[in-house]
Amino acid sequence: MLAIIGGRGMTELANLHITHRQVMRTPYGEPSGAFLFGMLNQHQVIFLARHGYGHTIPPHLVNYRANLWALREQGVSNVISIATVGGIRADLTPGVIAVPDQIIDYTHGRDATFYDTRDAVYINANFALPFCPELRTRILQSAALVHHPARDGGVYAATQGPRLDSIAEINRFERDGADMVGMTGMPETALAMELQLKYAILAVVVNHAAGRGNNQQGVNMEQVNVTAVAAMERVRSILECVVSCDGN
Ligand code: HPA
Repeated sequence: MLAIIGGRGMTELANLHITHRQVMRTPYGEPSGAFLFGMLNQHQVIFLARHGYGHTIPPHLVNYRANLWALREQGVSNVISIATVGGIRADLTPGVIAVPDQIIDYTHGRDATFYDTRDAVYINANFALPFCPELRTRILQSAALVHHPARDGGVYAATQGPRLDSIAEINRFERDGADMVGMTGMPETALAMELQLKYAILAVVVNHAAGRGNNQQGVNMEQVNVTAVAAMERVRSILECVVSCDGN
């Protein structure tokens, strides 16, 4: 089964016909909210709002472990993360949708592994390809099919937040090879790998990163929210195709 984790601009999935809600508990605490079980184009999916249904949980306080653990407990095999990002690369302008293929972790102090005791056998997750190539392809093909083409690939820089970035930080991320910047990609991506979930990010560029494009003074959060909400219409039609288009 597919799960969709919604980010900014997506605390609900308007085209999801909800069949039931379920509050989940895990050894790691409670997920961001009740899971919404429902049908998307006649296919069963689970939806979860990463920041809570009132968008009150900041990126560093999201219980990423509980979210993913509970999804797996429900039999989820594929997870698509909807995440808003700032564009560092020149062509990643507000409104563009991208499916990153690499990630760099600049977060700190988050619970970033399920192996946090000294008495259990642990694995060293293979993180060379952090995102599931098949799921990425499925998203890219779906985006093309519904005429909302997405950029194939890119390096996601995961920052701690909740503050935005300085221009010097963005310059550094760019020197490191990053193309876009967001606050929730890690540890979510690594935890999904530890649980052997097929995981990919559908990134929506909602602003130029600091010092790029028209963002020389700072991000206009009002504009960010408008761009995010407007883009979610396209995201929803891509997701419908992911679950139901022929060949997917
Ligand atoms: N920086 C970090 N995270 C973000 C940004 C940004 O510019 N835009 C959306 N999430």
